[in-house]
Amino acid sequence: MRTIAVINQKGGVGKTTVTLNLSHALALAGQRVLAIDADPQGHLSMAFGLEDPAGLDRVMHGDARLEDAFSEAGNGLQIVAAGQHLQEVENLETGGAERGWRLQRALEPLRHKFDFVLIDCPPSAGLLGMNAIIAADEVLIPVAGDFLSLNGLSRLMRILQGIEQRLGQYRKKWIVLSRFVEQRRHAREVRERIEKHFADQLLPTAIRETVVLAESPSFGQTIFEYQPRHRAAADFQQLAADLVAAGAQTNTRPTAAHA
Ligand SMILES: Nc1ncnc2c1ncn2[C@@H]1O[C@H](COP(=O)(O)OP(=O)(O)O)[C@@H](O)[C@H]1O
Ligand SMILES: [Mg+2]
Repeated sequence: MRTIAVINQKGGVGKTTVTLNLSHALALAGQRVLAIDADPQGHLSMAFGLEDPAGLDRVMHGDARLEDAFSEAGNGLQIVAAGQHLQEVENLETGGAERGWRLQRALEPLRHKFDFVLIDCPPSAGLLGMNAIIAADEVLIPVAGDFLSLNGLSRLMRILQGIEQRLGQYRKKWIVLSRFVEQRRHAREVRERIEKHFADQLLPTAIRETVVLAESPSFGQTIFEYQPRHRAAADFQQLAADLVAAGAQTNTRPTAAHA
């Protein structure tokens, strides 16, 4: 089982879009996939067409096991919705350091049931994001492709390194260009900079900006349900292949700061 936290402290970069469509792409490629909505806004749950089921909120409060919170979206995926009370978890002040390990512990019994677990994180560095990072073996960072997002990327890498040092564990880190507009020189420059600084981490496939990716969630559908022949579906299929191939590599070496 590869547990992947889809994170970026910036909102609107494509975390939910990537989690939604990459989950389905992996499932279509024959992988057993669990998608978890760890954002109290519940956008992933809505995009999967789930109407307010209980979910991760109950698991995080210790009232349910993760498998009790599974929902079927009808596309072969198992999904854990956010639930109405997930924000309360984010504000938890009791529980000490144990609070950060709840998702990791909840996932442990499912280790042999899934090939991939994708966790859609909130745009903040709170308790839910921390649970996702601790539970994850790998981190996938969607980057929108403007210069400000480059700045955010460097900052996020530093934050992750700090967490890794404290945990004494390292995570593979992958970057995906998630709203790429090839025609923009600016976007190509951002890609070149990322290639230069994060060569081992940038996944080769960029997800191109296209309106169908913004439309599909309002129908409660992934791109493979909404417009399976669109090039956006091909992008996600290719991204899934990148990620499967990337599983064979390792970039878990400590960075210079830890050496
Ligand atoms: N490649 C893309 N092309 C077009 N729209 C996109 C793309 N990726 C994301 N969006 C849209 O941008 C907005 C923010 O994306 P979202 O995935 O919700 O970001 P986040 O989860 O990081 O906040 C949404 O309206 C989404 O539909
Ligand atoms: Mg989101």
